[in-house]
This record gives sequence, structure tokens and C-alpha cells, in this order.
Amino acid sequence: ADGALVDRYGRAATDLRVSLTDRCNLRCTYCMPAEGLPWLPKSEVLTDDEVVRLIRIAVERLGVTEVRFTGGEPLIRPGLLDILGRVAGLRPRPVLSLTTNGLGLDRLAEPLRAAGLDRVNVSLDTVDRERFAELTRRDRLPDVLAGLAAATAAGLRPVKINSVLIRGVNDDEAPRLLRFALDHGYQLRFIEQMPLDAQHGWDRRVMVTADEILAALRAAVSLLPDPVARGGAPAETWLVDGYVDAAGQPARVGVIGSVTRPFCGDCDRTRLTADGQIRNCLFATEESDLRAALRAGADDAELADRWRAATWAKRAGHGIDDPTFLQPVRPMSAIGG
Ligand code: GTP
Ligand code: 5AD
Ligand code: SF4
Repeated sequence: ADGALVDRYGRAATDLRVSLTDRCNLRCTYCMPAEGLPWLPKSEVLTDDEVVRLIRIAVERLGVTEVRFTGGEPLIRPGLLDILGRVAGLRPRPVLSLTTNGLGLDRLAEPLRAAGLDRVNVSLDTVDRERFAELTRRDRLPDVLAGLAAATAAGLRPVKINSVLIRGVNDDEAPRLLRFALDHGYQLRFIEQMPLDAQHGWDRRVMVTADEILAALRAAVSLLPDPVARGGAPAETWLVDGYVDAAGQPARVGVIGSVTRPFCGDCDRTRLTADGQIRNCLFATEESDLRAALRAGADDAELADRWRAATWAKRAGHGIDDPTFLQPVRPMSAIGG
């Protein structure tokens, strides 16, 4: 029985986010502790063949049209280029994107493009080298900047930057990040911090809100309504009056206001973790174990049915504001955003 990934609220999940590893080569203070986390054992991580098979089922049977690779840090997955190339060969060919911290992208941008990658989003919370070293616990800002430049040169467009502002750490940096992005033709998006950190230190009263971010941006530039429809995208975007991006298109800036401006009603996402679990929401407290089914010999039709059932059970929204809200056990770094 073929059919799309729909839930009981009528949303269809056409955008698949695949986490390829829970490991990362940075240690952002708002994400994980300095010593890292108890990583998944290799035996529990899907093999390249298993990942490609599940993505093929999503594309051929479940109506998925976009596949985004995430982590941890997806560039450290050894089989990345091979997986990408095989997924690019699926029909109908999905749009392929990747979310990375940018380390190694200077070397990989060109091969990624050649393997079939269409777009890349790079996480960057500060353009100050010392602050970057404090925030990520690694002195690697120059590598990220080189990666961004290489992405543009390789034709991965638009190149987007994701920034999380943390009060008392980098909340003064919105205009500077915007200036940097406009100067280089990158599309900057600010993300409200969500309760997904491994340390459970999130505090709504401390979070920098979309309203605050927009006020800071408007003090620096003039923002015009974006004529392009948002669809299921998490980012609300504006055109920056008087600027163009690397492709000569009007420059955009965005805010992903997951907490104060939730967009769950339009959600079109489904997630596959590195260890083969389906998550129907970033904030899901239950997962569906496709790896166990797959390794027990389930055929494509059965795996597709399990994925549909997992999607049907998706909640209406993240419920961060509910008094009963519980942060998921799996941290952001193992979900992939
Ligand atoms: P584009 O297709 O380029 O717009 O990508 P994206 O913004 O969906 O993906 P990206 O990986 O760059 O994510 C940016 C931020 O948006 C991250 O902090 C994600 O956690 C967050 N995000 C992505 N998808 C969802 C979602 O379904 N719900 C919520 N609440 N946040 C999301
Ligand atoms: N809330 C919001 N965004 C987060 N990210 C990491 N942790 C959080 C959080 N708790 C961001 C990363 C990256 C993107 C994939 O998610 O900085 O830009
Ligand atoms: Fe979709 Fe869950 Fe994100 Fe809401 S919080 S947009 S339902 S993934």
C-alpha cells in the first residue's frame, strides 16, 4: 500500500532530515559538555547501505522530495560522498541539502557538489575569533570561513548561515553577523534557542527572542516583506533593502522563531536518526525503531508501513509552553536539528 506520510492533523511530511552521526568535532557550550557525550556504538549506527535503503523507501514509496543530511557533524561520516551520490541517483531525484558546522567544508564543497549536493547551511554564531574559540571550545573560525567561501565557489547556492544568539555570550552580535553575511552574499538566519541541549540548561526567560533579534536588525538595515511564499519552512524571511546575494538575487535575512512563533501547523518534516529511529517531531518523546525491523528482515513495504504509522502519531505541536512539557531524552546533537 503506497501512500504519503500524513498525520491525523492533515500535514504531509515531504522533507526528510537524516542524521548521519551523533558525533561532532566542535563542543558548543550551549549544545554539549567539553568531554562530549556517550556516542552511539558503531553496531547501532546504520550502515551506508541501510541509510540509502531507508531513504530510497522514503523517496519511492512515501512522497519525500527533499533530503537534508545532518549530524552531529555530517562531514565526519566516512561514507558521506557515497551516500550522497546514491541518493542523488534516486527517482524522482530529491533536492539534497546538508547542515554542517563548516569544518572541512573548504576541502569537501567541490566533491559534495559533484556527488549531487544542491545546498548547504552552515552554523556560525560569531565572527570574532576569540569568542568563537570560547563558544565552540575549538579555535577553528578560519576553517569555517574558508568552508563558507568554498561552498559559494562550488556553486552550492544559496549558502545559508544559522546563528543562535545566547544572552550574555553573543547577543550583541546580530548586526555584525548581518554585515558579514551581506558582504559575502550568504543568507543569514537567526534561531531561537530551543530546550534540546544535553545539559538541560535552557531557560525561556534567558532566550533571545525573535522580536529582539528583529529590532536589532531593523536598527541596522531596512527589511521588506519577502514576496516568496514561506511554505513549510521554519524561517520567516525578509528582503534586505539595497543588497543582493552571491547569485545576484535580493539579499534575505531570516528568523527561526520556534519558541515564540511556532510553525508546527505547517510542519512538513520527518526525521531518521543515525541509529535508525524515526522521529515524527524534533520534540518527539517516542521513536519508531526501523533499524530493528530492517535487521529482522522486514521488506520495503513493511518498513514503509511502519514509517507511515509513526507519522500518523505526530503531535499537533512541540508543547514547549505546556506545564507538562518534557524535554526529549535525545539531545539536539543526536537529532540533527
Ligand atoms: P532550509 O531548507 O534551508 O530552510 O533548512 P532548515 O532551516 O529547515 O534546516 P537547518 O538544518 O538549517 O535548521 C535550522 C534550524 O531550524 C535548526 O535549529 C533546526 O533545529 C530548526 N528546525 C529545522 N526543522 C525544524 C522543525 O521542524 N521544527 C523546529 N521547531 N525547528 C526546526
Ligand atoms: N536550539 C536551537 N538551535 C540549536 N542549534 C543547536 N542547538 C540548538 C538549540 N538548543 C543549532 C545549531 C545549528 C542548527 C542545526 O541548530 O547551532 O545551527
Ligand atoms: Fe514540526 Fe515538531 Fe518542529 Fe513543530 S516542533 S515544526 S511539529 S518538528
